[in-house]
Amino acid sequence: MKSLVILISGRGSNMQALLEAEFEMDRITVISSNPNAEGLAIAKKYGIETIILDHRTFPDRESFDATLAERIDACQPKLIALAGFMRILSDRFVHRFQGRLMNIHPSLLPAFPGLRTHARALQEGIKIHGCTVHFVTPQLDHGPIVIQAAIPVLSGDTEEILATRVLQQEHRIYPQAVRWFMEDRIKLGENHVEVMDSRVNETALYSPELPE
Ligand code: GRF
Repeated sequence: MKSLVILISGRGSNMQALLEAEFEMDRITVISSNPNAEGLAIAKKYGIETIILDHRTFPDRESFDATLAERIDACQPKLIALAGFMRILSDRFVHRFQGRLMNIHPSLLPAFPGLRTHARALQEGIKIHGCTVHFVTPQLDHGPIVIQAAIPVLSGDTEEILATRVLQQEHRIYPQAVRWFMEDRIKLGENHVEVMDSRVNETALYSPELPE
């Protein structure tokens, strides 16, 4: 059985991108740590099974993670996709599902792990920014990278404008990464991911462009 679990806490636009990818899947389950997540309504609109696990009703991280792991196991997922899941997962949880846990992060990792990536990118004056899909390891925002998308930082960009352009790319690369995984095309090494039969464009991306 091909089953996918998507973990959310908020808006759910990456979850929606995954749902719209129409993977050949026997079962998709969305689990939200937040009962008020906007993504829950979207999942329901798509007729997807949803589970709410309100983290505030658990005494500590360990007990939340233990219940989350049980609910995930009940779905027997091939992959668990974190899509704006705003909980730090315990090492124990990560080890239990390691190799089957993917995340999308709004920066070109390993640059800017953590929060407020776009504001920090602007502050540092970087010229190329983007997003990353990676496997989850105990170190936050730091696992083997599956795919990245880069965009130029333009003059006049604000945090919001940059976030919007990066998010468009997130919606392209996350479904791609999940599809590769579901098609067993991903070879996961200790620190590296190899995607079988994928193409790499060897042309460099410059921002600003070089003169002719
Ligand atoms: C996205 O920017 C994602 O990269 C980050 O959290 C945000 C979630 O947005 N992990 P959404 O809930 O998918 O719209």
